[in-house]
Amino acid sequence: MTKRGQGRFALSCFTAALALGCSTSTKTSDARLAEGASAPAAAAAADTAAPGVNGGQAGSSAVVMSSPAGEALPGGLAVAPSSQASAAAGGAAGVAPDAASRDASSAAPAPAILGATPPMGWNSWNTFGCNVSEALIRSMADAMLSRGMRAAGYRYVNIDDCWMNGRDADGKLRWSDNFPTGMPALADYIHGLGLELGLYEVPADRTCASTYGGYAPGVGSLGHETDDANSFAEWGIDYLKYDLCRGQRSGFAVMRDALRATGRPILYSINPGNGQDDLCPPSSCALDLPSIANLWRIGFDIDTQWSSWLRLIDENANLYAFAGPGHFNDPDMLEIGRGASADEDRAHFSLWAIMAAPLLAGNDLRNMSAATQAILTNAEVIAVDQDPLGIQGRVVATPAANLQVWSKPLSGTNARAVVLFNRSAASADINVQWTALGLPGGAATVRDLWSHSDLGSFTGSYTAQAVASHGVVMLKVAALPAGPS
Ligand code: GLA
Repeated sequence: MTKRGQGRFALSCFTAALALGCSTSTKTSDARLAEGASAPAAAAAADTAAPGVNGGQAGSSAVVMSSPAGEALPGGLAVAPSSQASAAAGGAAGVAPDAASRDASSAAPAPAILGATPPMGWNSWNTFGCNVSEALIRSMADAMLSRGMRAAGYRYVNIDDCWMNGRDADGKLRWSDNFPTGMPALADYIHGLGLELGLYEVPADRTCASTYGGYAPGVGSLGHETDDANSFAEWGIDYLKYDLCRGQRSGFAVMRDALRATGRPILYSINPGNGQDDLCPPSSCALDLPSIANLWRIGFDIDTQWSSWLRLIDENANLYAFAGPGHFNDPDMLEIGRGASADEDRAHFSLWAIMAAPLLAGNDLRNMSAATQAILTNAEVIAVDQDPLGIQGRVVATPAANLQVWSKPLSGTNARAVVLFNRSAASADINVQWTALGLPGGAATVRDLWSHSDLGSFTGSYTAQAVASHGVVMLKVAALPAGPS
């Protein structure tokens, strides 16, 4: 649906700091990839954890992270020593979600902060719009298991707009008749599968689908934040998508505080933009986004067109400094399996992964093709997205018009994820130089994350031959230690 712009609600961080605990230091201390610095120190420091976006408790637990100790990052960039303190103390930290402990089949330790890595899951909007129901959500949750999504790391099952049905006499939100057994029972079902349940609301009187799509029962949370956050917590909700949609930007911190007051860890995802003409990316938003939410939309809605994917990639490309464990840029949900070519779908997934973006599938998981399933569950690409350093990759070279080299530092020493991205209309060779990745110029091993094969050891650079139009080659490059001199 098309939305008209609306004047920005200018809330200064100073004002917010008085009323809402906005951290004025977050933006600067979270400039984790500060130009010119050279001493990464990505580990430790987080056992000073401060209250989180929601439900966080001071000093709850340490963030355990690998450090690429002593290595240079691309282009002379570095992880600032304050970055982890920022991730923990900048307001986006929270205690581990209880669903982690519900997940009996996972041997991994519970994450120490809420949303330490980008959330993975599914959302109803892209395919189903307002046609949401309990039956749909239950069947999609079942498909999360049967189609290998849960095993690949996807956890959230998010019901977007149109689940609500006004308010009762006490002002409490009601779920629609399409959810006959109700949200608590649905949450129990979802949790029983080792999954988590998300809902949608807005800091406005009416939801987006009510304002633009005629969904009359779509009431918003403005002025009802405490009641609604309590309802979400009572129902067992684990994730809230809070979408401005002509609402009030000041309402994002109000809902953050209301969620926090419930004591339930609820991942907080916001869209601070109004339509296409009034975006609010962290580089220019009057809100201090990392202190408010675990993730924030950086652009207008994605659709199934390649051009919209490029638009969001380009809008997100220079926002890498604002991402970190517990707080990520959100270039919107995935459109994989919704009509694009396999090359384009692989490119979409690769770019979202190297940008440390949330991986929220938007297709119908129940009937997706084996090819779509293979893309969405590629463990090696997902590992790039979920790398515990939480660094958003960036463009480090542009060998020719419409050819890009993206790089993302990974845990471990001198390891990089690399996407060689062909945006052009013809296939092309794409070369990557180790120096562009901030690696020593000697030998490095190269692994192809789509063919799942080790390509060998290469000195100084690697050239991928005939990268498909609108396609990628995605690599892991790991420099070999220099031999004795
Ligand atoms: C906005 C959001 C979408 C979706 C719809 C629901 O357009 O950007 O992601 O949530 O509202 O109405």
